[in-house]
Amino acid sequence: MINIDSFIEGLPKVELHLHIEGSLEPELMFALAQRNHVNLPFKSVAEVKKAYNFSNLQDFLDIYYQGMSVLLKEQDFYDLTWAYLERCKADNVLHTEIFFDPQGHTERGVAFETVLNGIARALDGGQKKLGISSKIIMCFLRHLSEDDAFKTLEEAIPYKDKITGVGLDSSEKGHPPSKFERVFARARKEGFLIVAHAGEEGPPEYVWEALDHLKVDRIDHGNRSLEDEKLVTRLAGEDMALTVCPLSNLKLCVVKDMKNHPLKKMLSLGLKATVNSDDPAYFGGYMNDNYKAVARALGLEKEDLLTLARNSVAASFLADAEKEALLRKVNAYATRA
Ligand code: ADE
Ligand code: ZN
Repeated sequence: MINIDSFIEGLPKVELHLHIEGSLEPELMFALAQRNHVNLPFKSVAEVKKAYNFSNLQDFLDIYYQGMSVLLKEQDFYDLTWAYLERCKADNVLHTEIFFDPQGHTERGVAFETVLNGIARALDGGQKKLGISSKIIMCFLRHLSEDDAFKTLEEAIPYKDKITGVGLDSSEKGHPPSKFERVFARARKEGFLIVAHAGEEGPPEYVWEALDHLKVDRIDHGNRSLEDEKLVTRLAGEDMALTVCPLSNLKLCVVKDMKNHPLKKMLSLGLKATVNSDDPAYFGGYMNDNYKAVARALGLEKEDLLTLARNSVAASFLADAEKEALLRKVNAYATRA
């Protein structure tokens, strides 16, 4: 009998909610600042880490957008993505679907193509050298206008072969999914799959809107769905996946204590919950850290962890045959470990 931590480390995992800019470790932030002659408002890595004390989503976003300022060249985006893939390898993450925030870069004068090419080149290498498969999801910043989102969508259309889906992130409160209904309708017509952050800080109504106005394929976070019984029934009935991020929820005060995290309740209500790291460089851990923190706090058993891993495979944007191959790996592990 191996213990839960070792079981988690060996478990074949899939990540579905990861902002690549949120994987920028302070050490790399400083190295890139030096390489690109960018001034940071921090003197040392220790000082940066001390600033990672957030009381809500906006506190974090302010620092997150500031951190991005060191990313200027294609090689920077490559290095950022490669560092994340090495963490995937260490954590036995076999497939990952990563977000990027093009508007966080284009509004600083960095070309869309520069960002995408750097990320995509690293992901290609990840498949070839590390055996990690991946998809790219482009997110619209919801605090910006519908017009800005439309312009970003236009920029993405020539790169449809590289971008699987579009999503919605940034400051949730006051920016409901319905603000972007027309943008997402156009994105769907272009063949992009759809996700949206909803119910992280925002009310259950935003989750309804993500379903009905944006016609999402997955909900990112979705924690506050549990406040609305009818919504839970709808999500369970549609087998709608929730990409839950335990350490993020703790750091952003979405939950006060990991012992109050709703993940176990979600599973018991029949919701297709998954575990993810969101912005691991800012929230204190990658995939294994997230699984371990929530397993410890909620007393999850091996069967729960296997359910979470299988949920992520099923909710991924892989083709059926690829899902089956991953599922076989999880099932083989279940009989072995
Ligand atoms: N952008 C990066 N991380 C985010 C989060 N957790 N919620 C909303 N927008 C984000
Ligand atoms: Zn997120």
